[in-house]
Amino acid sequence: MADALFEDPLLATLYDLLDPDRSDLEVYADLFEELGATSVLDVGCGTGCLATLLSSRGVSVVAVDPAAASLTVAQAKPGAPLVRWIHGCAQDLPPLQVDLATMTGNVAQVFVDDVEWLATLRSIHSALRPLGHLVFESRVPEDRSWLRWNRTDALAVADVPGVGIVESWPDVTEVSSATVTFTTTFQFYRDGSTMTSESTLRFRTIAEMTSTLGEAGFELVDVRDAPDRPGRENVFIAVRRR
Ligand SMILES: C[S@@+](CC[C@H](N)C(=O)[O-])C[C@H]1O[C@@H](n2cnc3c(N)ncnc32)[C@H](O)[C@@H]1O
Repeated sequence: MADALFEDPLLATLYDLLDPDRSDLEVYADLFEELGATSVLDVGCGTGCLATLLSSRGVSVVAVDPAAASLTVAQAKPGAPLVRWIHGCAQDLPPLQVDLATMTGNVAQVFVDDVEWLATLRSIHSALRPLGHLVFESRVPEDRSWLRWNRTDALAVADVPGVGIVESWPDVTEVSSATVTFTTTFQFYRDGSTMTSESTLRFRTIAEMTSTLGEAGFELVDVRDAPDRPGRENVFIAVRRR
């Protein structure tokens, strides 16, 4: 079960409106070209921003996410009819042989324990052709981004058709050695009501990514800076080895 902000039908419709700048996806579109891929599996596709961007460019795309409400938003977008949408996790995928698998928007951090993370990596491994690539991002632990997760530094506002002005912000409730738990509050100006969603994210070091990728049959071949968030995100490029 994904967090309420992805699962709740109203909150899922707010996701793109509260975070409209998706220049972060360009690095994936560029890597698609650089790696000479012709087919993509987008794991944790959410509202389908990357999946529909690539399918609109003629790419063969399979997109999977456990949040049905987010998939409903995705399926209404231009380019959506050309995508093969799957409701579930990577473990629910049918047999595939794609060139490239992606996890954008820090999906890799939702896998808090290593058992689930390794199961996801192994399923992605099975869905890739030999020497296919996996590209994903994860926040740099040393940047301690959670120190900016508060109403002052991370307030988002949108004027949502039929809903009115909505404000959203995170509040950190617990920081452990490797995970951060926070609440996202959504405030609706039309009646002053609020909704909340709780999330926990795992911050893995490059060494932890290297070893878990290796256990799942990948070799980490590059770690890049995200051009739109320098110093804040590691973009991992791994290749399926066996
Ligand atoms: C921050 S959103 C990112 C969505 C999308 N990739 C993007 O860039 O906008 C995280 C996504 O991970 C999905 N997710 C949660 N648990 C998952 C799992 N076990 N397997 C795959 N995706 C999962 C959520 O439903 C949500 O859509």
